[in-house]
Amino acid sequence: MLFKKGLTLLATVISVISAAPANPGAFAGKTQAEIEAYAETLGKFEKLQYMNTVFVSQSLAKDPNYFTSLVPGANPSIAYIGCVDPRNAIDIFTESQLGDIYEHRSIAGSVGVNDTNALAAIQFAVEFLQVKDIVLSGHTYCLGIKAVIESYDQLTGPLSPWLAPINELYVNNKQTFDTITDPYLKARLLNEMNVERLVNLVNGLDIVTNARNKGQTINVHGWLFQVENGSFINLNITKSAN
Ligand SMILES: *[C@@H]1O[C@H](CO)[C@@H](O)[C@H](O)[C@H]1NC(C)=O
Ligand SMILES: *[C@@H]1O[C@H](CO)[C@@H](O)[C@H](O)[C@H]1NC(C)=O
Ligand SMILES: *[C@@H]1O[C@H](CO)[C@@H](O)[C@H](O)[C@H]1NC(C)=O
Repeated sequence: MLFKKGLTLLATVISVISAAPANPGAFAGKTQAEIEAYAETLGKFEKLQYMNTVFVSQSLAKDPNYFTSLVPGANPSIAYIGCVDPRNAIDIFTESQLGDIYEHRSIAGSVGVNDTNALAAIQFAVEFLQVKDIVLSGHTYCLGIKAVIESYDQLTGPLSPWLAPINELYVNNKQTFDTITDPYLKARLLNEMNVERLVNLVNGLDIVTNARNKGQTINVHGWLFQVENGSFINLNITKSAN
């Protein structure tokens, strides 16, 4: 009995695997539930490759030009700077399409004053892509923010200097933070203060100022994404001039 079940499973696996080549519509006969059930039998890493073949196949079945249309380049609506946290998936929570959002990610979504990686990303967005809106976003339940509040002094390695400006905000406003007992609200306030710091920092960059002086419109926005219910709040601290 078990042996027979095993054979049936093997046959299913073989039929799904043989359907896997990137042939448009190859998964057409399978329901999404069947595809997902099979994917669940795979290891997390192997699942990525399998689901990629499903994605490619299903995308081409809907639109044969889905990928070739991306070749000429992207015309993103915004440049988004947010946290590396995998729950902070702006593409998913805004139902955006490939090519829509230009993203830069870092721990706590921070940008350093001498941070060549972020500065080059912002320069490219402003000068080459001529993006009008730059979003700095924090998110609730951010582990970088939590580390600052709970254990900054114990941090070692690059995390310590990276989070130092956020720690400085915390230390400088300690009196206010000490009046808040709810850890969620405390973290949220620090997060919002940090987003405001980043909006001011990016708004004041020479890259942004020079582009505005040449007539480009650049709005620098601050958001807070709420992991607990999937909605982001526009903190309404947008800066459109220096
Ligand atoms: C950034 O670089 C400048 C020039 O090298 C230096 O004076 C400054 O201390 C650096 N700032 C930080 C926060 O590392
Ligand atoms: C999401 O949660 C926050 C508080 O956690 C609340 O202020 C906000 O209204 C909620 N938004 C939605 C759409 O439920
Ligand atoms: C931002 O402004 C919008 C529109 O006026 C308003 O609905 C929203 O509540 C404001 N958000 C905050 C965080 O004040």
